[in-house]
Amino acid sequence: SSSLPVFGQEEVSKHRSLSEGVWVTFRGGVYDITDFVAMHPGGEKILLAAGGALEPFWALYAVHNQEHVLEILSEYKVGEL
Ligand code: HEM
Repeated sequence: SSSLPVFGQEEVSKHRSLSEGVWVTFRGGVYDITDFVAMHPGGEKILLAAGGALEPFWALYAVHNQEHVLEILSEYKVGEL
């Protein structure tokens, strides 16, 4: 269980730039990945998912289908959808 706040999709979609913060969702979790964008091995492509779901992009870029990628993502969790 977690005590993280619950956010609506509308709130998530307000965060789609480095200045407003970059949030994404994945499997019901909400992640503030603003500080990870500059470290992303795939560069600024990561911003395509800003404000929305990672799943469609990670389905295309299967490099993310690895435990170590999920570990990185988990560090940025800020809430639940
Ligand atoms: C590679 C993390 C979102 C495109 C990677 C790698 C990590 C990573 C750790 C290196 C994997 C490895 O080689 O073992 C993340 C995280 C994301 C995210 C934490 C979201 C929070 C995205 C999105 C896209 C994307 C949305 C595309 C729209 C790529 C590409 C690579 C890559 C193309 C391969 C780069 C290369 O090896 O040249 N990502 N990624 N990523 N990512 Fe992401």
